[in-house]
Amino acid sequence: MKVTKAVIPAAGFGTRMLPITKAQPKEMVPVFDKPVIQYVVEEAYEAGIDDILIITGRHKRAIEDHFDRFPELEDSIKNSEKEKELEKLYEILENVTIHYVRQKIPRGLGDAIYHAKKHVDDEPFVVLLGDVITFPNCTKELLSLLLGNECIISVQEVPREMVSRYGIVEIDENGRIKDMMEKPSIEEAPSNFAILGRYLLQPEIFDFIEKTPAGKGEEIQITDSIKLMIANGKEVRAHTFTGKVYDIGNKISWIKATIEFALRSEMGNIIKEKMKKLLC
Ligand code: G1P
Repeated sequence: MKVTKAVIPAAGFGTRMLPITKAQPKEMVPVFDKPVIQYVVEEAYEAGIDDILIITGRHKRAIEDHFDRFPELEDSIKNSEKEKELEKLYEILENVTIHYVRQKIPRGLGDAIYHAKKHVDDEPFVVLLGDVITFPNCTKELLSLLLGNECIISVQEVPREMVSRYGIVEIDENGRIKDMMEKPSIEEAPSNFAILGRYLLQPEIFDFIEKTPAGKGEEIQITDSIKLMIANGKEVRAHTFTGKVYDIGNKISWIKATIEFALRSEMGNIIKEKMKKLLC
């Protein structure tokens, strides 16, 4: 079955990015010349998704404004060089329907994803965390692996001392996930394979989210719901992604991403020269 729907949870406060995120959503933080969430939406679009549901919250209105037309602005830059800066965004607006639903109380990622229940109905769907960028396109790779009605979670090895920042999975010799744990200590962690923020889920997940008690941080964790699903015999496979993952929820990774994307851009050579001078 072709997967056409994506869900982008974007309701978190972004406390690790304060003060930048005091009055602007963390998903609108720029990485070089685009807000993070535009990279995420482009990733979904380029993977063949044409229907996106963004889970937002009270302080997230800028996201809706970003994915909307702005006739006065369009008129003011008409026939100028600046028009091309909006080309990709406008191509997406033409081809993808973007919907929004608000998570009224922040009760965790599982609860945020549960807000997509009515929207995705009985179809498989992908979840892309709104503050994670992948390169090359992890969602495209993930979708190409779907064989039947299983769930697939993208994972990547992380240094052992970082396991407590992630959902950690235990994978068997056939690539199936046997167990998973949200942000375990080094001692508890079943491995160092971390959930990176891309999930291919089946609609049964909603039944398991309903049965998931509050976990880490007193929040409903999607990791716990998937774990429950595995315990009930559902097949969940791991997709080991070998590309780059940028978690824009923390400052070091954000700066690194900004520098890398700037160097990869048309301005790359100029920026490299400026940086050389800065460093010597
Ligand atoms: C979330 C998930 C976690 C995953 C991580 C990837 O945590 O709960 O399992 O490993 O995203 O970035 P968060 O970073 O939102 O606390």
